[in-house]
This record gives sequence, structure tokens and C-alpha cells, in this order.
Amino acid sequence: MAEHQFEDDAVLTVVGTGIKLVSHLTTEAREAIEKADVLLHATQTPGMPQWLRSLNSAEFDLTSFYAPGRDRWVTYRMMADRALEELGRGQRVCAAFYGHPAVYVTPGVEMVRRARENGYTARMLPGVSAEDCLFADLGVDPGVAGWQSYDATPFLVYRPRFDTSAGLVLWQLDALGHRDYQPRHERSNYEVLARVLAEHYGPDHEVVAYLAAQYPSVAPIAQPLPISALPLHPGMSTLYVPPLGPRVADREMLAELGLVGPGE
Ligand SMILES: C[S@@+](CC[C@H](N)C(=O)[O-])C[C@H]1O[C@@H](n2cnc3c(N)ncnc32)[C@H](O)[C@@H]1O
Repeated sequence: MAEHQFEDDAVLTVVGTGIKLVSHLTTEAREAIEKADVLLHATQTPGMPQWLRSLNSAEFDLTSFYAPGRDRWVTYRMMADRALEELGRGQRVCAAFYGHPAVYVTPGVEMVRRARENGYTARMLPGVSAEDCLFADLGVDPGVAGWQSYDATPFLVYRPRFDTSAGLVLWQLDALGHRDYQPRHERSNYEVLARVLAEHYGPDHEVVAYLAAQYPSVAPIAQPLPISALPLHPGMSTLYVPPLGPRVADREMLAELGLVGPGE
């Protein structure tokens, strides 16, 4: 990363707007938005595009590339293409994505990668992700039991080996099992998810359907429910699965690390 140390002159800055309208935007991200020749943005909170427009009127809403039935990966490529086109015109570009711009944001990461590949100075500024809000709202410290984070669809498709004694968060429940853009909550595959989770945790294990607040003064939604009730849920975006049972320490490792004495 040494060659990217001095990035104040970046011609591409990718920023996160956070989840909560206005209040999550960092000072450095706001400055990048305001100073850009062109502001590209893709957010989902109603009111966010209008507010971004008020910060920089030379803007383009990248969500206009979404189209029913269009593969999400095609849309993401179109978004990155647009940033590269603007850079090619000599514009200083800021691209704003909601939450953290690298967290489940393929075009954010792609823009930086492709810009650097083409010789432009590019940087990314972090933002507050939905997961950051979850830690705060549910009082979960990922360091206590460990943490696993997956997009729900690859979680089902690739069946990764995961640890039920660590926390698990599943993202993008609103597009579960779909490659194309779903402009609504997609719950037709919740039954499959419930079956897979029940294989590991049992049907009675309590999970939390989570929605971080998108506006100041609005409370987050954290609905506890047993895994068996997932197919009945009207639609959610993020699911938190708390650890199941205590972890068992490896006694030989404890001894090797000097954490227990002989015979302890
Ligand atoms: C394309 S990803 C974008 C994530 C975003 N960049 C971030 O840092 O949080 C969309 C997913 O983020 C999660 N998400 C977005 N907004 C959320 C909210 N208000 N509450 C809970 N999860 C949210 C959901 O899992 C949703 O399917």
C-alpha cells in the first residue's frame, strides 16, 4: 500500500455516506463530495439523492443503471465504466455509496482498482456500514466469540464451513437467490435458508431480523424470532445469528501458549 500513501490529490475518491441520512457522513467524505467536478452516487435511503444533489449539483445517480431483469454484475460494471469515462474526460470524480463503500459494494471496489490500473490516483474513505450499526444497536462485540459475515446467497450456494460458536451475520436477504435487481424484499427463498440454518443450530435457535435506522430520531428494528419462523417473516435485509453454546478451549494449545500450568 506504500505507493498509495499520499492520496490527497486523488482524482477519484470513493466515499460512504453511512446508513443514517446526513448524520453518518464523515467530514472528509463531505469535503470530497463538495470538491468533486462530478459526483456519482448510489444510495438507497429515500431523501439521500436529493441531499447529495444539494451538496454538489454536478451529479449523476448510478442507480439509474439498475433495470428489472438485468444481472446485477452487468449493472456494477456499468457504474464503474461511468467513473472511468469521467476520469478520461479529466474530471475529478467522487463516487458515493451508502454505508461503507467497500462493504458489499462491488462497483466501489472496482472503480478504485480500475482507476489505479489506468494510472489515476484513487482513494477510498470508509463509512458507517449496516454491520457497524448492528454492533451498536444489538450490543454485540465481534471480538468476544468471533465473527462471520456472508452474503446470504453465496452462503447457501457455497456452503462454507462456518463456526456456530461465533456470531454470524447474513446480508442481502432482500435479494436471496437472485442475480438480477429486485426492487422489493425477496422472501421466496427464506424456507431454504431456514432449513439450512436449522441443520446447524436447530429450529428453535433465536435469530434477529435487523434493520438499522435510516433517519435521525428513528429507532432501529431488531426483531427476535426462532429459525423455524423465518419463512413467515414479511421481508428483511440483514439477519444476525447469535452464537450457539459456549466455546471449548483446546487444552493442549492453552498449555503450549503458557496459559495454563501443568496439571491445571
Ligand atoms: C448492497 S449491500 C450495501 C451495504 C452497505 N454498503 C453497508 O456498508 O452497510 C445491501 C445490504 O446491506 C444491508 N443493509 C443495508 N441497509 C441496511 C439497514 N438499514 N439495516 C440493516 N441492513 C442494511 C442489507 O443486508 C442489504 O441487503
